[in-house]
Amino acid sequence: MHGFLPYVWFEGKCRPFAEAKLSIATHALHYGTAAFGGLRAIPDPSGPDRMLFFRLDRHARRLSQSAGFLNASLSSEEIVAAVDAVIKANRPRAPIYLRPLVYTSDLGIAPRLHSIETDFLIYGLELGDYLSPEGVSCRFSSWTRQEDRSLPLRGKISGAYITSSLAKTEAVKSGFDEAILMNSQGKVCEASGMNIFIVRDGVLHTPGVNQDILEGITRLSVITMARSMGYEVVERAVDKTELLLAEEVFLTGTAARITPVAALKPRNWPASAPSWSGSATASRPSRKGGTRNSAIGSRGFPRVVRNIKPTASMNHGP
Ligand SMILES: Cc1ncc(COP(=O)(O)O)c(C=O)c1O
Repeated sequence: MHGFLPYVWFEGKCRPFAEAKLSIATHALHYGTAAFGGLRAIPDPSGPDRMLFFRLDRHARRLSQSAGFLNASLSSEEIVAAVDAVIKANRPRAPIYLRPLVYTSDLGIAPRLHSIETDFLIYGLELGDYLSPEGVSCRFSSWTRQEDRSLPLRGKISGAYITSSLAKTEAVKSGFDEAILMNSQGKVCEASGMNIFIVRDGVLHTPGVNQDILEGITRLSVITMARSMGYEVVERAVDKTELLLAEEVFLTGTAARITPVAALKPRNWPASAPSWSGSATASRPSRKGGTRNSAIGSRGFPRVVRNIKPTASMNHGP
């Protein structure tokens, strides 16, 4: 129903999707003691049978670090090897999203991260646009992003996504596409699964890595590319009202790529208070188009993509 790829990585090898089953007593299911990644790849237009991965090395490193936060051992090399096997088993022909997950696979109760089995899986699906590339409407969330002193926010820890889920549902149920969360200091943090940038007086600003954000890989790529294109980029604490005064606001993430914010409305503000609509954004399509499309497969930045070519002699059976 979701266009899942037929083969997954599960319990140490590639198997058919339908054969990858977990017990209802799986520890991670009860305690959120898992960490995941999300990788996009597109077929290489210049080489049939090849997939171009966006920053596979960085994604593998972050997942390996996330595993470390869970007291699980999973190296970047193991992750890349499993990704490689999944691609060879599936031979995708369309843009895909891979979802690796490291999790406490034990069947016992008691929340803990010691003396417990862990495992690692990957499944994939075909994925086009996660958010509308034309732009999304956002509201400020009533939920606050967690603090790094409560849980390791530099990892993509599954349990942390309850806040993202609450914020996203609150936004959608109140007529918006996305939520913008503040951090515990009341500064702009990020969206439900994306980092945020604003443009003020032609300068890019984004919450710094000490603002309880996830250190997004797309965020870093945008910063690097923007600087190399001559734009000034400032990483700092961003105030809520700055969003309302910005010339442009956009969200970045692996799933969302680079998505313009077309409208922004503060929660519970009086009708007379200013809200923001992205007319300035719409008036500069060439610049925005350039940034969005450069998120994946950019010719100017060959080191951000990695090519995986399935070999004829792959074995994906148990
Ligand atoms: C909470 C959160 N913030 C930001 C991002 C963007 O990170 P990246 O660009 O690495 O996908 C994501 C997505 O992974 C996320 O889940």
